[in-house]
Amino acid sequence: MCGIVGIVSNKSVSSSIINALKKLEYRGYDSAGISTLNNGIIEEKKCSGRVENLEKILFENPSSGDLGIGHVRWATHGVPNQINAHPHSTEKVSVVHNGIIENSDKLKMEYEKKGYKFKSQTDTEVITIILNDYLKSEDLINSIHKTLNKLVGSFALGVIFKDFKDIVVGARRGSPLAVGYGHNENFIGSDSYALKSMTNKISYLDDGDFCILHKEKVEFFNSNKQKINKEIFEVSNEDNVADKGDFKDFMSKEIDEQSNTTKKCINEYLDKSRDEINIYNIPIDPLKIKKIRLIACGTAYHSCLMAKYWIEELTSIDVEADIASEFRYRKVKLNKDDLYIFVSQSGETADTYAALEKCKKNGVKTCGIVNVVESSIARLSDFVLPIHAGPEIGVASTKAFIGQMLVLFLLILKISKDRNDIDQKEFKKIIEDVKKIPNLIKLTLTKQNEIQEIARDFIDAKGTMYLGRGYSYPIAMEGALKLKELSYIHAEGYAAGEMKHGPLALIEDGMPIVVLAPKDRFFEKTISNMQEVIARGGKVLMITNDTSETLSENIRFKFQIPDAHPNISAFLLTIPIQFLAYHVALLRNCDIDKPRNLAKSVTVE
Ligand code: F6R
Repeated sequence: MCGIVGIVSNKSVSSSIINALKKLEYRGYDSAGISTLNNGIIEEKKCSGRVENLEKILFENPSSGDLGIGHVRWATHGVPNQINAHPHSTEKVSVVHNGIIENSDKLKMEYEKKGYKFKSQTDTEVITIILNDYLKSEDLINSIHKTLNKLVGSFALGVIFKDFKDIVVGARRGSPLAVGYGHNENFIGSDSYALKSMTNKISYLDDGDFCILHKEKVEFFNSNKQKINKEIFEVSNEDNVADKGDFKDFMSKEIDEQSNTTKKCINEYLDKSRDEINIYNIPIDPLKIKKIRLIACGTAYHSCLMAKYWIEELTSIDVEADIASEFRYRKVKLNKDDLYIFVSQSGETADTYAALEKCKKNGVKTCGIVNVVESSIARLSDFVLPIHAGPEIGVASTKAFIGQMLVLFLLILKISKDRNDIDQKEFKKIIEDVKKIPNLIKLTLTKQNEIQEIARDFIDAKGTMYLGRGYSYPIAMEGALKLKELSYIHAEGYAAGEMKHGPLALIEDGMPIVVLAPKDRFFEKTISNMQEVIARGGKVLMITNDTSETLSENIRFKFQIPDAHPNISAFLLTIPIQFLAYHVALLRNCDIDKPRNLAKSVTVE
């Protein structure tokens, strides 16, 4: 992961680099650093921890220079301390890097034999040393080209040089890199969002490309060092502002936004006058789709699991959901009649991207469901469906998850209708339910204080389980993921019917357990599983739209979601499980927007 930025300008660049790094902190916050070229000398400043630490250093000891590079780190090689922070510099070269150099140990040995000494434990420092070495005998282009050819792995790089006083170099293989165009200044950044306050004119490097930024122009080269041209995109300003407003943190803001984001998404895809779903040009004729394969990581994978249930329920198509890091290496039989759907908020997740690349290489049809429309996954997919959730800054995914489920649900409905798997009457009924989602979410959001109270039951828990059947099972998995990543309490999402096959042994007196039990065809069975948990001392938080009083005496707390059709209950169950993770983490004084060891965009495998 990590975030990189580079600027060449006719004015001092350090404050612009810091501002861009703040926007890139979602990619990592283990350390931060900057190098500028000041009067022909590379000035490197770096520290462990957040960009605000770097800002303090620069406040006391400012960096001058009208070109420079910056970095925020998510540690892979070497502990997150100041020495391992980027940039990594010699007197002649300074490098920032996002990605992993897989052959760094071998290269390190090779260059140690040549007499070079390494200061850090990182894989990145070899790039600095190799480039430094080539520059002794080669010109700039050849030095860059030869250096890149020695590297195995994935990277996006930003480089400045002592002896090339007015350029910044960028390079990409595997990790994303955007180029921004300004007036007498040009930029590189890990994404266009980091550059948005400076420009909305963006190009993207493709794998193997490198570029040289000058003040007045940008030169692009492919992996054969040939000069190439790049298309310039205008990125929309619509999602420019990502601030917390009156909210304590981004996560609470993003949870609160979900009524509006779902409304916006429905408006984008639903023609309400005709009750038609505006999704056209699906790359395989829906009538001919044999199987749908859904591929993603983490929360996005849970949206795929949800879609699996919907596809089985609403279509006659075979379906599988896969974790991208497994899919990319399995000997999966790829079939031209199957539709491969990749779900990713960031659109940059390395494993999901690699799985997509594998499908593209095999000529099968792909669809990307993303939040960031300029992302690598969006650009590589045959067909893209944006979720229209707006920037999601909190590391724990919330509104993107709801958005992913919504777009998947609409796509499935569209396919189902085109195939006549669903009749017109049933279709209309479900569309009416879809229209209700934003308001039902709004209603559920008003009940945050109830979850705030019950969250106290969880703060000292050794562990917990989230149980559900059918449509509630993927939400149980998502609930457990949210709780563990935010509050660092061990949590498992389990199919309620599986408990008796082992996990029931974990239940002990007073253990808090979340049971998701909407009134659907699994309700009675889930209740039986819940009773088995209660009988063994489990303290149950039940989330349901059941209104009967009969169960209440045995359970610790019943959170009532609005009554809704089982098809859409997933959207409503999601709200309390988000609130629960949020409030438990808050009570445990955890960093809500930046949980430990994580990053928003996972661009390493
Ligand atoms: C959890 C979370 C992660 C992401 C996963 C995939 O809250 O955010 O599990 O869902 O890293 O990221 P994207 O969706 O960007 O591919």
